[in-house]
Amino acid sequence: MSIEEMKELAPKKEVMFWNVHEICQMEGFWFLAHLMESMVAFRSDFQPRSEDVLITSFPKTGTTWLMALCHNILHRHDNREEDDILTRMNLHEVVPTLDVFFLTDQVQNLLLNSGGGRLLHTHLPYTCLPESVRNSGCKIVHVTRNPKDTLVSMWHFFNKVLKRDPTATGPFPMEGAVESFCTGVLPWGPFHENVVSYWEESKKRPDEVLFLKYEDMCRDPKKEVRKLASFLGKPFPPTSVNGGVDEEVEKVLWRSSLGRLRELEVNKNNVVSELTQISNSSYFRKGTVGDWKNYLTPQMAERVDQLTQLKLQGTGLSLDDF
Ligand code: A3P
Repeated sequence: MSIEEMKELAPKKEVMFWNVHEICQMEGFWFLAHLMESMVAFRSDFQPRSEDVLITSFPKTGTTWLMALCHNILHRHDNREEDDILTRMNLHEVVPTLDVFFLTDQVQNLLLNSGGGRLLHTHLPYTCLPESVRNSGCKIVHVTRNPKDTLVSMWHFFNKVLKRDPTATGPFPMEGAVESFCTGVLPWGPFHENVVSYWEESKKRPDEVLFLKYEDMCRDPKKEVRKLASFLGKPFPPTSVNGGVDEEVEKVLWRSSLGRLRELEVNKNNVVSELTQISNSSYFRKGTVGDWKNYLTPQMAERVDQLTQLKLQGTGLSLDDF
């Protein structure tokens, strides 16, 4: 589909996200208008390889953690700290978000010059993925998170990175953030439809689409990372082989941990990524389950809960049992 055709699909009325960015609707989902060109190019020109691994996620659901885990599983035999590219580059540069950065030289070079399978990412829902990806047989790993923590994490993130009107005082009101989350009018939203698109596909093709939850990863990281490694075709040795020691699993978890990544110089305050144009530190905050309790009123929480119940009815998916 050409950019002109895409603009035709966009609503005639301008819709603003958080009073900052114009967003437009395509195939039932909302996208930042200034990223449409990149998304169209990704959808029409991306050439997947069957060995590629595509991480997919709605924003603020654990993308960075999953990028780290996949990267560290796939490179777990590079033992020397100085060989670890994550000490020099932020994860979002190592694992680029294709629908956002497809047209940049950095991503084009990475796509062309990496041999074998590549580790890549997108926020697009399954139904909007390039046709080529859906037919490629490449592995897809989706991560999601309970909607209230996603919303709160997003509120913090966008307050940090969106270039709001300089006369605006204080953070964007939480009421407005809840409204856009619940109406689904937010980038890559609606949240529930985006997540369910992968949930349904993971049920149809479990060998090719793995569906993970942030909270499961927090609750039992070893189990989830073992599952992920097996799915990626790089299983860890069974615990019994090492006399009950999970050394390799623990190393991957440590290398991917929020505590370690946040403290790397490359992810500290003033380092701004050339690719993302935002501070690398923005991707790391608390990383806890249930932080929404500190920000949402009972009425806001109730509104999100009711919506979640409605949207997930009959899918077999639960996102709120934490
Ligand atoms: P909080 O804002 O709740 O702290 P994404 O990577 O999709 O943008 O999601 C960001 C959320 O994941 C943030 O949550 C962030 O703190 C958390 N996060 C980032 N890196 C992480 C890691 N290595 N382990 C666990 N959580 C991480």
